[in-house]
Amino acid sequence: MNNEKNLAPIGFFDSGVGGVSVLREAVARLPHERFVFYGDTLHAPYGTKSPEEVRALSVKVMEQLLAKGCKAIVIACNTATSAAAAYLREWYDLPIIGMEPALKPASLLHRQGIVLSLATPGTIAGEKYARLMDRFGEGVVSLPCPGLMEYAERLEMEGEGLRGYLQGLFAPYRDQPVKAVVLGCTHYVFLKKAIGAFFPDTPLIDGNEGTVRQLIRRLAETGRLAPDDAKGGVELISSGGPEAEDVMRRLLEQNA
Ligand code: DGL
Repeated sequence: MNNEKNLAPIGFFDSGVGGVSVLREAVARLPHERFVFYGDTLHAPYGTKSPEEVRALSVKVMEQLLAKGCKAIVIACNTATSAAAAYLREWYDLPIIGMEPALKPASLLHRQGIVLSLATPGTIAGEKYARLMDRFGEGVVSLPCPGLMEYAERLEMEGEGLRGYLQGLFAPYRDQPVKAVVLGCTHYVFLKKAIGAFFPDTPLIDGNEGTVRQLIRRLAETGRLAPDDAKGGVELISSGGPEAEDVMRRLLEQNA
């Protein structure tokens, strides 16, 4: 039986546009759901802030999404998941789906070489990442990327500046076989083409698909899926105001 809960929206949040890459995937898989996306552009980046700051910002965003009556939350941000997911799950009684760099799927690939794991400094310094490395860290080189998410925020998905940044980042590994590149920050998914240009035959792995699968699983097991005749939709909100919301809308409508 469907009730109000089934028709309530699913909340997504990130420090900015990165989470839109996850949202895009969720909208395609769940056309009958309503989504509210909150991009905390005003306080971006999260990845160079302390875990305490990110936790406090995440609580504020969470309150805004709960005021919208959300039935589940996706933390579409590896950094906020690392800093705040456990805390939020303790305090809020609804399904909260988080993200982590896709080291596990990378470890399962039958290929030779190192795994380059790109994420924010905050994600890589976090306890959650250390635990992930204990389990799936063999052959993984962790690359904190301060300043990289800003290219996606500026919609600078190609060009000299970005190329130069990536060149410097990857130079030490130029002569090594690379098994996979993990995009451990949702913003980097928008930079896939520029990153992939350095690794023409190497898989680039992100956590988006797995996150949406987990969302669907949690909605199903808690009886919260919207019925097939429900009308889906997306509301985009940014703490940065209408201009930032416009950027998010453009990215949402762009083909993956
Ligand atoms: N998109 C975020 C992530 O997945 C973080 C970007 C940032 O604010 O530094 O980690």
